[in-house]
Amino acid sequence: MDLKSLQKIVEFVKEQFPNQVNIPLHAPVFIGNERKYVIDAIDSTFVSSVGVYVTRFEEMIAAITGVKYAVAIVNGTNALHMALLLANVQPQDEVISQSLTFIATTNAISYIGAKPVFIDVDKDTLGMSPVALKAFLESNAEKKHDGFTYNKSTGKRITACVPMHTFGLPCRIDEIGVICKQWNITLIEDAAESLGSYYKSNHTGSFGKMGVFSFNGNKTVTCGGGGALVTNDELIAKRAKHLTTQAKVPHKWEFVHDSIGYNYRMPNLNAALACAQLEQLELFLENKRELAGNYKKLCGKLGIQFIAEPENSRANYWLNVLLLKNLEERNIFLEYTNSRGIMTRPVWELMSRLQMFSSCQTDGLENSIWLAERLVNLPSGFRVNG
Ligand SMILES: Cc1ncc(COP(=O)(O)O)c(C=O)c1O
Repeated sequence: MDLKSLQKIVEFVKEQFPNQVNIPLHAPVFIGNERKYVIDAIDSTFVSSVGVYVTRFEEMIAAITGVKYAVAIVNGTNALHMALLLANVQPQDEVISQSLTFIATTNAISYIGAKPVFIDVDKDTLGMSPVALKAFLESNAEKKHDGFTYNKSTGKRITACVPMHTFGLPCRIDEIGVICKQWNITLIEDAAESLGSYYKSNHTGSFGKMGVFSFNGNKTVTCGGGGALVTNDELIAKRAKHLTTQAKVPHKWEFVHDSIGYNYRMPNLNAALACAQLEQLELFLENKRELAGNYKKLCGKLGIQFIAEPENSRANYWLNVLLLKNLEERNIFLEYTNSRGIMTRPVWELMSRLQMFSSCQTDGLENSIWLAERLVNLPSGFRVNG
């Protein structure tokens, strides 16, 4: 990329986010009922894990994602942990996931004691490739008489598959679902980044047995810290609520717990913030979509590849992504923009390259390795003047 293009990008970002010295990747904005609802929660004294906003948040998430049940959880990482527990993943099992993901996906698998297996992603969706998943299972797995799928080389059971909708771009989740069904592997969608993203008209997170969302401060909708587990399975939803509330058996005064539970509940204070933010989801999405369109137009003029929403999908454009020519160009881009007050970032270090996960099986990860050297994220937050 020549100096002129770099200058044009910096100028352009500054125009999109005027009057800011440092432009972050994704800052939250509170321009709706946030203060009103948080104060209301404080005044009610229900600031902890029971309260009207928790219930309202769960209803709103279920309605937005088109699933029957949503359970509010303290953050997305713990929601993933809960989903894996509810999928009955056991220590010693294997869970298929992506190497190109944020570490929370992989950490959650490790909390169980299970081992991740890393499958490659597609170059257009940046999410798990169904072709790669099918190829891996056909050459490395076998279905045994107990109905479960086992890894032929390790002898371990493969219980779950956790694809991720990278930067809010939906992956080919319906095809992944079909493969998981054939192999009796539970599909859990890491939809942490993709609230407001649809694949073939259905919301991400609604294809799997369970889906998980994050409401961390950097997400499209935030409540400071928060997560949600969505499912159409009533028993799973009930169990999720039970396990996230210390597995306490309901009783007027007795403290009886029927299994090892977790304190994974979302506080009402956070849920109040989330409800106000969710009321503005459409506004946020529209504003972000317009920004993505502007980036796309600019990239077209400069001959730079902008990653647009894949076919058959509608992305939330949580973080806009460029695909640069090579590692050298990526590094020059990161240096130039960050030293001029524009926060840009490379994609995460591949999970398979982190010391904790370096012994995990992979399928070679050709696309993931190629992409990791070339992807950069641009400032993508809500433009107050947009
Ligand atoms: C892909 C992915 N999975 C999981 C998480 C975990 O969410 P949280 O930060 O709410 O724990 C995040 C975001 O933070 C994420 O980007």
